[in-house]
Amino acid sequence: MKKNSKLKVSIIMGSQSDYKVMKLAEKTLKKIGVSFETKIISAHRTPKRMYEYAAKVEQNKIGVIIAGAGGSAHLPGMISALTHVPVLGVPVESKKLKGLDSLLSIAQMPKGIPVGTLAIGEDGAINAALLAAAIIANNNSNVRKKLKNFRTSQTKSVKKSPK
Ligand code: RP5
Repeated sequence: MKKNSKLKVSIIMGSQSDYKVMKLAEKTLKKIGVSFETKIISAHRTPKRMYEYAAKVEQNKIGVIIAGAGGSAHLPGMISALTHVPVLGVPVESKKLKGLDSLLSIAQMPKGIPVGTLAIGEDGAINAALLAAAIIANNNSNVRKKLKNFRTSQTKSVKKSPK
């Protein structure tokens, strides 16, 4: 077994209120058989927690981080700045601007600190999980197999005719 074949995905989010969207990332990772953990970490409300989490990313065998946040949504960028693992940002829909603020905040990272940005809301959470699984699959043949099976059954589920 390769040394890095046990890497897991870490799902983090800025608030309990983000969980209604981010739980779809959990559900998707479960379907593909990817190990994960889930935590609430707020860049502005729990900065100490964020620094402590970031310091232990490698030690905790985290291979990809999915970070969901809404509004000014600085969590994904801050986590990317503090770590060296790929960070996938999920813009959570905000009350005032329907997530456009979250999307731009996450996508418009200045050069040097990347965040892979997904779609706003549930589609983004699901695709972040699929992308995280694809990254993990590079060094994990079980996950690669399950990801391929997922794609095959998704293709089969699309009917040829609407009737
Ligand atoms: C952000 O503020 C969170 O990521 C959340 O999307 C948003 C609103 O948080 P709550 O007021 O619902 O806790 O930090």
